[in-house]
Amino acid sequence: MNGTRAKVIAVLLLVTVSGCWRGATSPRPPIHPNPNMDHQPKYRAQAASDFFYDGATMRLPLEGTVARGELHEDTAFYTGLDEAGAIVSKIPFEIDEELVLRGKERYDIYCAPCHNQRGTGKGVLWERAQIESADLHQQRLLDIPDGQMFDVITNGLGLMSGYKYPIPPRDRWAIIAYVRRLQSEAGS
Ligand code: HEC
Repeated sequence: MNGTRAKVIAVLLLVTVSGCWRGATSPRPPIHPNPNMDHQPKYRAQAASDFFYDGATMRLPLEGTVARGELHEDTAFYTGLDEAGAIVSKIPFEIDEELVLRGKERYDIYCAPCHNQRGTGKGVLWERAQIESADLHQQRLLDIPDGQMFDVITNGLGLMSGYKYPIPPRDRWAIIAYVRRLQSEAGS
């Protein structure tokens, strides 16, 4: 009797353990005796849903909802227009050297390819296709209000596309601070 039991246990062990060695591959899904919370029904962003009437998983925010840190009350800072809708003439916050340096770095990345590092408007578009990007030292651009330049960077103009998404508002102002520096250095 004892001998039989030992054999049964041995066979069971063999069956359970075989196929469990490290690196063993099998086309079948693994045996998963204790699922714990390994499998949880969930939706992925942008996935279709047959639960919601509109068939979309992602819900729209309730009207009037503002995400934390996204209340853009400071219209001058975010749009270059003051509360009355007028273009602001100057960068609407304190400028320091750190901001100008940040602006130089961003300018060299985003603007110099077309306007070139000195702002003369003859960058790669000029070299390859003889298309001149605006010369930032022309009188009209020395005179335009900072808020208007902010609008050009944000929304683009003509052949120049807008940089609303790649360049956050503070960096757009930093670039303007640097463009003003370039302009004044060229003039002196
Ligand atoms: C892909 C090339 C390209 C890039 C990159 C580019 N620009 Fe321009 N930009 C142009 C062209 C072309 C114009 C002329 C647009 C027109 O008048 O149709 C222009 C015009 C301008 C003007 C003049 C707007 C006016 O009122 O006439 C300013 C200021 C300016 N760009 C600033 C910038 C700044 C700052 C950046 C970097 C954030 C930048 N640009 C990046 C091509 C570019």
